[in-house]
Amino acid sequence: MEIEITPGCRYFPEFLNKTSQRLLLDHLKKALHEAPLFYPTMPGTGKVFSVRMSNMGEIGWVSDKEDGYRYQDTHPKTKKSWPQMPDLLHELWQELTGFTPQPEACLINYYNASARMGLHQDADERHLQAPIMSISLGDKARFRLGGLKRQDPTRTLILSSGDILILEPPLRMAYHGIDRIVPGSSRLLNEGGRFNLTMRRITPGP
Ligand code: SIN
Ligand code: FE2
Repeated sequence: MEIEITPGCRYFPEFLNKTSQRLLLDHLKKALHEAPLFYPTMPGTGKVFSVRMSNMGEIGWVSDKEDGYRYQDTHPKTKKSWPQMPDLLHELWQELTGFTPQPEACLINYYNASARMGLHQDADERHLQAPIMSISLGDKARFRLGGLKRQDPTRTLILSSGDILILEPPLRMAYHGIDRIVPGSSRLLNEGGRFNLTMRRITPGP
């Protein structure tokens, strides 16, 4: 089922069934073995994010006090290349966005019971027409979706395990964030909490 929340925001509730969620989780766990979750820090202040992160793909999103928000091709701690994005993710991108070029980065966010992500725009990509595709695994989350200006009214969507959400023009640059997760609302992850994967195209491409 596909629901248009508003032009530029398409929602696919439980697009991934339990089997596909477990398959994706297996890929994810292997990737995290190679590229462990790290705590990014805010540019300037060095304040530590409550969300832990890692990436798959050719490039990954990182942030720290000294150099701020950016994409780079290596893990900030291990200094190694990011693990590959599984074919499954490229196939999902093709199926649901039909967009070329393909995504280059898949940001992995992990939320524990007290993690949140403030209202922000995804603005570090050079390709701002490409969709952003987000996949949720594990506990439910209260996702806040606003408009193109910070002060625009917002709405709340409850994102559950297996849900896919796409932001694309005219809402590609919408403000969004996670108010909190709902601990214990899914049994997919033994450790509890929530993973969110966001696939992005960074460079303009061919
Ligand atoms: C993000 O904005 O990077 C993550 C959104 C989410 O966790 O659903
Ligand atoms: Fe975001």
